[in-house]
Amino acid sequence: MKWQAKWIRPSVDFGKVNPVYRKKLNIKGKLSGAELVITAMGVYEAAIDGKRVGDFILAPGWTSYSKRHQYQTYDITDMLSNTSVLEVTVGEGWYRGRLAGWIKRENERASIPPAIIAQIELTYADGSHELILTDKTWEAAESPVLFSNIYDGEVYDARHVDNTFYPAAEMADATTDNLIPQQGEKVTEHEHLKPLRAFVTPKGEKVIDFGQNLTGYVAFTVNAKAGERVVISCAETLDADGNFYNANYRSAKSKIEYTCKDGVQFHKPSLTFFGFRYIRLDEVPSGWNADDFTAIALYSDMKRTGHLICSDSRLNRLFDNIVWGQKSNFLDVPTDCPQRDERLGWTGDAQVFCRTATYNFDAKKFFEKWLADLAADQGEDGYVPHVVPDCLPKRESSAAWGDAAVICPWQVYLTYGDTEILKNQFESMKLRIKYIGGHTSDKYLWTGAKHFGDWLGLDSPEGSYKGSTRADFIASAYYAYTTSLVVKAGKALGADVSEYEALYENILKAFRKAFSTYKTQTEHVLALYFDLAEDKKPVADSLAKMIRENGNKLKTGFVGTPYLLHALSDNGHADVAYSLLLQDEFPSWLYSVKKGATTIWEHWDGVKEDGSFWSTDMNSFNHYAYGSVGDWVYGVAAGIRTVEEHPGFERVLIKPIPDERLSWLCAELETKYGTIRSKWTYVDGRARYEIDTPSPATIVIGDKTYEVEKGSYIF
Ligand code: BGC
Repeated sequence: MKWQAKWIRPSVDFGKVNPVYRKKLNIKGKLSGAELVITAMGVYEAAIDGKRVGDFILAPGWTSYSKRHQYQTYDITDMLSNTSVLEVTVGEGWYRGRLAGWIKRENERASIPPAIIAQIELTYADGSHELILTDKTWEAAESPVLFSNIYDGEVYDARHVDNTFYPAAEMADATTDNLIPQQGEKVTEHEHLKPLRAFVTPKGEKVIDFGQNLTGYVAFTVNAKAGERVVISCAETLDADGNFYNANYRSAKSKIEYTCKDGVQFHKPSLTFFGFRYIRLDEVPSGWNADDFTAIALYSDMKRTGHLICSDSRLNRLFDNIVWGQKSNFLDVPTDCPQRDERLGWTGDAQVFCRTATYNFDAKKFFEKWLADLAADQGEDGYVPHVVPDCLPKRESSAAWGDAAVICPWQVYLTYGDTEILKNQFESMKLRIKYIGGHTSDKYLWTGAKHFGDWLGLDSPEGSYKGSTRADFIASAYYAYTTSLVVKAGKALGADVSEYEALYENILKAFRKAFSTYKTQTEHVLALYFDLAEDKKPVADSLAKMIRENGNKLKTGFVGTPYLLHALSDNGHADVAYSLLLQDEFPSWLYSVKKGATTIWEHWDGVKEDGSFWSTDMNSFNHYAYGSVGDWVYGVAAGIRTVEEHPGFERVLIKPIPDERLSWLCAELETKYGTIRSKWTYVDGRARYEIDTPSPATIVIGDKTYEVEKGSYIF
């Protein structure tokens, strides 16, 4: 689209108060169509005659704005009358508000105006057109939103209806070159949860429990006198004594401060979001009623495609927690967590969770947009920032984190079968490999660089977040793996990949020479899963032994955990993989379930046995990374897998591996060909398999292989 409008900003400085722009539309005749095209430097909410335009919350979303700034197009034909007034309120959002990494540069941020740009195209019944463009005929005033940003929440004064509108100022120099049409999924409201219970804590706090940790905001209705306040704080958990606990939010205030007008009133914030399960009513008018508070979940509007269910209610809760972890952290960009002063697009977290994510939901558009931002933020030397969109001051790239550049597009291709993603990302994928080649001390290994290592691995030395797996081992293993994926991606595109094939062979040789023994669980896992070990059997046996000797418990962190169960089950130790999955003592997936988790925790021991917490500096209860175990349940326990030569489930490999400790398990996956279903049930000590496939499939049951057409099968 060609932009004719100009960016505008208020001509007076409203400070922290969020401006509301106004334009009287003055429609001259009968309309046959009307479109609003708009975006903002911040997050905006547009309304016509008081009615919200569209359902995209926190538009325009978060992208690498300087290169890619999305605008949205709304059909407003049915909203308009001759005297309609458009109003647009603009919050700081990700564009202007404080963000980790930007915190030290707040003055620079504060100088960015809360600008908008919009074009309204009217088509009259007689076929004529009119364009209404943002310019100095638009006006701006203070809105009742006295403050809003991503981390701290919102301050709203319902009495503050300011009719002093000032003309807007045109920003002649502001570019429109970076404006792109909406590419990702819009963020919308989803589940509306009523309180599970309301209670007073031992400290005397009024608390509402919504029963589910989520990302979103709280809507409420109160009957109040003007000037009374509703002040709400958010928390994910209670402490061991049952008191409200939000020390793990660090500096994120995550507060709603609402000043009432007279009478019965409804309110919900819309220019911020919170990660929470509990709210504390710090102030509330008397006569309040818990049922008048609703938690509303916000996330990218992806279609749910995958479902897991089995005979063990603890595992079912884990499956739900994985899905809620994704909902909570797929708010326009894949974030590490939604509550503390971080909420960033950490590449490593997205990389490890990507496959599970594409089973659970149709995340194609979501990842296409984010990967385009990744490529946009990538340096010419191939450097991939730790977070995308990039906002961190340091220019560093870590193994397993920066490798999102290669692993995520490959996964999106496998799941959805569209070569477009590979076409769009192939340069970025190759650049990643080039970067490694340019930042290593050994030619065919990645050595001597700084990385996050096996982040949060339980074999970390005292005082460190990094597990004891060797950094050079992880980096070189990923170098091999991502190079192998570039070869596969290139072949899928019909490109000449001989250079990468040769490179891969050299890395493999160098790796085997440099790392002939494996020390940690994670080293075993990577050597197996990335096909680096020459003779896998003894390595798999050794890994299984380490785990058994450790009481069927893992020690892995962000790098080892996603592939741990695969490395075992691919190599004859599915029973040990199940032992880990079914373990409910610390450290394990079910430990958090036993402790009442409703989302995935950042730490295996976010809450310790005695009820105390991991230190407040880094203890999220909504970090999807370890939810990556979901893909093992879909792909191995239920056995639904992609076939590289026929991606997108054009052909399916269905290779379930049951375990008698569960009496049944079922996975369903909606693909563009129809729904794949794989269920097994133990009947008199033998597994009975029911399989539905909408595409031709290779079904592997034990040591027998069946090539079948689409249909339903029982074994
Ligand atoms: C984030 C992680 C992230 C890490 C990098 C943390 O603060 O929350 O999930 O991957 O930093 O090591």
